[in-house]
Amino acid sequence: MKKIKLKKKNISSNSSRWLQRHLNDEFVIKSKIEGYRSRSSYKLIEIEKKFNFLKNSQNILDLGCAPGGWLQVAKKFGPKNAKIVGIDLLKIEKIDNVVTIEKNIFDEDTEEIIQKNFTNKVELLMSDMSPNSSGNKKIDHLRIVSLIERVLEITKVVLKPKGFLISKIFQGGAQGDLIFKMKKDLSDIKYFKPRASRKESSETYLIAKKN
Ligand SMILES: C[S@@+](CC[C@H](N)C(=O)[O-])C[C@H]1O[C@@H](n2cnc3c(N)ncnc32)[C@H](O)[C@@H]1O
Repeated sequence: MKKIKLKKKNISSNSSRWLQRHLNDEFVIKSKIEGYRSRSSYKLIEIEKKFNFLKNSQNILDLGCAPGGWLQVAKKFGPKNAKIVGIDLLKIEKIDNVVTIEKNIFDEDTEEIIQKNFTNKVELLMSDMSPNSSGNKKIDHLRIVSLIERVLEITKVVLKPKGFLISKIFQGGAQGDLIFKMKKDLSDIKYFKPRASRKESSETYLIAKKN
């Protein structure tokens, strides 16, 4: 494939490097061709090819779903009449037969709203959430940990026994403590780093089953 080269005019060298890499990224190009809203969609496609969670889940919840790439994948690979609900701080452009809710998952009524949107408990809870970078590593790390802790609280309430959790997690720091907390409610805990997840990123995906 022909590489796109940028003219340097008016772009700082860091932004130009980022943009050049983005424009030539295999998964960015594929997502444009195949109509997915995010390159992240290919991470979930790889997870699905390995574990087949979507195929077998009637009630699917996606936390941090904007712009909607994972929701599109859930709709494509899930059962035809699956109930799919996505939540994000940001507004999500409509996807037919998918419910989207603009909301902060830290809001106290989150579990209640989720339960109201499903007639049964959730069989697959997915989270690709990451906080906006503050530029301060310590603050960012604390934000990441509190997001995952909140995902675990929600999992406890809304995920069905023997249901599955897929959650983005960042390797390092408090990972050990988190795993310790997870073991109270979850088992078969494993990590999976899809090829679409950039090698230089510390992100990986945690896969677990509710007890
Ligand atoms: C990497 S993006 C998700 C991409 C998505 N999986 C896709 O394929 O389109 C992470 C999302 O997490 C959301 N997010 C971060 N913190 C959140 C919070 N507290 N409540 C709800 N959404 C949150 C962000 O707004 C952002 O849209």
